[in-house]
Amino acid sequence: MSTDDPKAPESVGTTEGQIAVHWREEESFQPSAAFVAQANLTDPAVNERFAEKNFPQCFIEYADMLDWTQRWTTVLDTEDPPFWKWFTGGQLNASYNCVDRHLAQHKNKAALIVVPEPEDEEPITLTYQELYVRVNEFAALLRDFAGLKKGERVTIHMPMVAELPVAMLACARLGVVHSVVFGGFSGEACGMRAADSGSRVLIYMDGYHRGGKMIDHKASAEIAVATAEMEGQSIDKILVWRRYPGKYCSATPMVKGRDFFVDEVIGNYRGVRVEPEAMESEDPLFLMYTSGTTGKPKGCQHRTGGYLAYVTGTSKYIQDIHPEDVYWCMADIGWITGHSYIVYGPLSLAATSVIYEGVPTYPDAGRVWRIAERLDVNIFHTSPTAIRMLRKAGPLEPQKYHYHFKHMTTVGEAIEPEVWKWYYHVVGKDEAVIVDTYWQTENGGFLCSTKPAMDPMKPGSAGPGVPGIYPCILDEQGNELPAGTAIAGNICIRNPWPGIIQTVWGDRDRFVRQYYSKYCKNPASKDWRDWPYFAADGAVLSADGYFRILGRVDDVINVAGHRLGTKELESACLTVEEVAEAAVVPVADDIKGRVPDIYVSLKPGYAPVREIEEKIIATIEAMIGKIARPRKVWIVADMPKTRSGKIMRRVLAAISNTLDTGDTSTLANPDIVEQIRQHVQGNQKLEAKDGPEDLKTFGKEE
Ligand code: WTA
Repeated sequence: MSTDDPKAPESVGTTEGQIAVHWREEESFQPSAAFVAQANLTDPAVNERFAEKNFPQCFIEYADMLDWTQRWTTVLDTEDPPFWKWFTGGQLNASYNCVDRHLAQHKNKAALIVVPEPEDEEPITLTYQELYVRVNEFAALLRDFAGLKKGERVTIHMPMVAELPVAMLACARLGVVHSVVFGGFSGEACGMRAADSGSRVLIYMDGYHRGGKMIDHKASAEIAVATAEMEGQSIDKILVWRRYPGKYCSATPMVKGRDFFVDEVIGNYRGVRVEPEAMESEDPLFLMYTSGTTGKPKGCQHRTGGYLAYVTGTSKYIQDIHPEDVYWCMADIGWITGHSYIVYGPLSLAATSVIYEGVPTYPDAGRVWRIAERLDVNIFHTSPTAIRMLRKAGPLEPQKYHYHFKHMTTVGEAIEPEVWKWYYHVVGKDEAVIVDTYWQTENGGFLCSTKPAMDPMKPGSAGPGVPGIYPCILDEQGNELPAGTAIAGNICIRNPWPGIIQTVWGDRDRFVRQYYSKYCKNPASKDWRDWPYFAADGAVLSADGYFRILGRVDDVINVAGHRLGTKELESACLTVEEVAEAAVVPVADDIKGRVPDIYVSLKPGYAPVREIEEKIIATIEAMIGKIARPRKVWIVADMPKTRSGKIMRRVLAAISNTLDTGDTSTLANPDIVEQIRQHVQGNQKLEAKDGPEDLKTFGKEE
């Protein structure tokens, strides 16, 4: 099976007929006149301004939305392809742009409203002035107490609390590169990332509320430190915020000389102001680790100028954020959506951004709508998994609450038309426009979406490329498939854009290999037209220019909108002593889209007992986190293999999803297929179904 080999065959050549099970073209919906009347982007000239002939100058429109201490000299520098550089010669500071510059007009306005999970705790509001004070004081602490300097990396492992954006913006103020690790990841996952980024300081939270429980989060810090140390990175300081200042909510002892409560130290920096560091446009702003096709997550390195310009521009045009809006994105700040569209984009536009600590359905299915009603949220942003979950928990709940959204976003996975329609009619009350935004951690911001006041919405389709993004569908040979042919291929972006990552942290080769080798027309060329970006998603392009995204064509599984590398899970399984071989495949799930199924064979001398299954699950939760918990662990006598000994994951995926296993007669051990099928599906032979594209083609290259 291919790992990082971009030349491996992918899911191309499938026709509309074959993908019909996914879903067909739907009828369009139009934005309401009321929405259009107030929208930021209504001028049809935008299409012309961002047309290919005006590339890359078109993106000056986004850069001009920021305050630069020094204006750039070059918009796009293509000297070292595909390491594109944006707005070079320019200097700016992201923290200044998200905070200081709003003080003159908006200092009294809510920047962040943080809603604690316990409903008897009042929401906490940070005005722009208050955010300014907190960011400055924490920046002073990071500089003077932790000794952090421009260019150093810091790993932040925190839940959804106000202190997380405060910490990010304080880093940005100093030019310290933050690497936020999703709060739900394990201590080990945090430690691996801290080691890879070379962080010597960790920023932590003692605990937080989730699903009615107080989670002891600090407990994971010890594991993070031990893991980082094993990887050769020592941690000198852990800065621990307390959920309730003065009261420690963790059972884990603080280590003297290493662990410090922020609320105790910060008093020494009261009133201190830290001059925002003038950052070069190309200086890195942050790292965000994401799963790829190898066992090790990669550090996506985002630049300062291009990234901030791109998230600001798309927040204004696609999210339609105005300063007077109350905007609520339910994603976690620990993912790219949270970085771009909870923190940097909305704050750069002086909006009010809502942060919710807990579980959307806690304590009941009305919670989200109560929050929306109380805060008068008018822009709502979430994932298909959350929409499916809310719909299941309380299909009629939204109508009980008096909120009105003007705009709603869906992101992270394809949304089924039926779910889209519930979102539109019930959550949006037929008033709100919907944007289905397609993009990736590597992209910084949206790639495909409708322009909310200008383009009709089509359920199940993300839409055309957003302004300045020219996507295309390429077949295996690199030929462009014209619109309307209804043949699936690989979605690629023909041009560079300011939000794309600079590189994979510490691994330039991997960056080139992963995204550009497959379709690069001429490695010696400095013309960006020779370097299409390979996204690793299958897609179809309709005659009207709308893209339908069919899912990953590599071995990444999208679980509840979160990327999991099958190789990452397999490596975790192989650390369990009894396990000889492991294969991970995606299974369709009504709520989460996909979940992993795990197949293992055992070393000689071990019997297939329940304890081993439990041990494998516990290991995965410890090494990655609860989000990677498999649906099932199947212990099998042997794996289906080719004659050359490769595990046929395609066959296992077909069995897990009751799909046709195809021709297995050429396997080295064809009999094992029926044996595994009976083990998984039971003795009675189930009729094979037709399935979605990503499941049918998973592991096809083996
Ligand atoms: C998938 C999340 C269909 C896709 C912002 C992509 C989507 C992966 C959509 C990136 C969408 C994201 N429709 N699929 N609107 N948005 N995806 O890096 O497979 O966590 O490659 O970024 O999610 O996930 P990531």
